Amino acid sequence: MKVRLGDIELQNPVIPASGTCGFGQEMSEWFDLNCLGAIATKGTTRDARYGNALPRIAECPAGMLNAIGLQNPGVDEVIAIELPALRKLYRGPIIANVSGFSLEEYAYVSARIDQETDAAIIEVNISCPNVHNGGMAFGTSPEAAAAVTKAVKAVTRKPVYMKLSPNVTDIASIARACVDAGADGLCLINTMLGMRIDIRRRKPVLANTYGGYSGPGVFPVALRMVNQVSKACPGTPLIGCGGVSRAEDVIEMMMAGASAVEIGAANLQNPMACQQIIDELPGVMKELNITHLQDIIGVV
Ligand SMILES: Cc1cc2nc3c(=O)[nH]c(=O)nc-3n(C[C@H](O)[C@H](O)[C@H](O)COP(=O)(O)O)c2cc1C
Repeated sequence: MKVRLGDIELQNPVIPASGTCGFGQEMSEWFDLNCLGAIATKGTTRDARYGNALPRIAECPAGMLNAIGLQNPGVDEVIAIELPALRKLYRGPIIANVSGFSLEEYAYVSARIDQETDAAIIEVNISCPNVHNGGMAFGTSPEAAAAVTKAVKAVTRKPVYMKLSPNVTDIASIARACVDAGADGLCLINTMLGMRIDIRRRKPVLANTYGGYSGPGVFPVALRMVNQVSKACPGTPLIGCGGVSRAEDVIEMMMAGASAVEIGAANLQNPMACQQIIDELPGVMKELNITHLQDIIGVV
């Protein structure tokens, strides 16, 4: 089940997605994190953030809306407390997800994470739909996405993976701009902008009005985008994400072009999801006559 993200080997392709496993502590109460291919930590900004007002989750058929708003303890505490604590629980590669509201903030947080031996990859979230003047604003234009990529690449020698937004017309052009600006890999997709209305109160369900939709309902969209990007950026490692909830979905995502797969909403429904998917993978591989997962990447 081994796969590679550039020079980094993963024992399997399954990674809990940023924002759905915190910094690993709660998830470690459910299972031994050491079964995971890697872990993507919660999006980190320069300063601590409380996030958006409640309610900030709305359940939907085939998925959920979230409008967390990048709640996190800030990069100082992530470095001083969260990453060392995670390292005690998990020996594998840690993917540090960073976010920001300006090019300077992305560069500052990335430069701080660059000093951390515990972080193997920097995943740059230019796709958060739940904050104003930040996040997704950088991921919806090729020029802005390239500018963030360059700013982060200038301050780190760690591999930089840009995390792309599905809320665009042409994801391939954003992906290409990131790769041309030096991105080592790409992660896609983040959540799709959506909303729910409480028809009795005649008010939006989310205090933020809009939120990011994810879960099984977005799987075909994520798959299509991974496939388009794999053709637009041959040779660039992709982490596929969006709606994966079973071992068959991991295989499908890899056939579309992903070298590894992140799992988000499924963890909120079932905290054991990642471990169960890893346990199910060998049986599904056998059924499909797959000897090495690496062989199926981008076969479609
Ligand atoms: C509650 C929640 C919080 C999230 N927080 C982050 C975050 O901090 N940074 C980030 O890049 N993506 C964040 N995401 C997006 C996920 O990492 C993932 O890209 C998205 O949910 C699609 O995957 P899924 O369909 O498996 O949930 C969050 C998603 C959820 C559901």
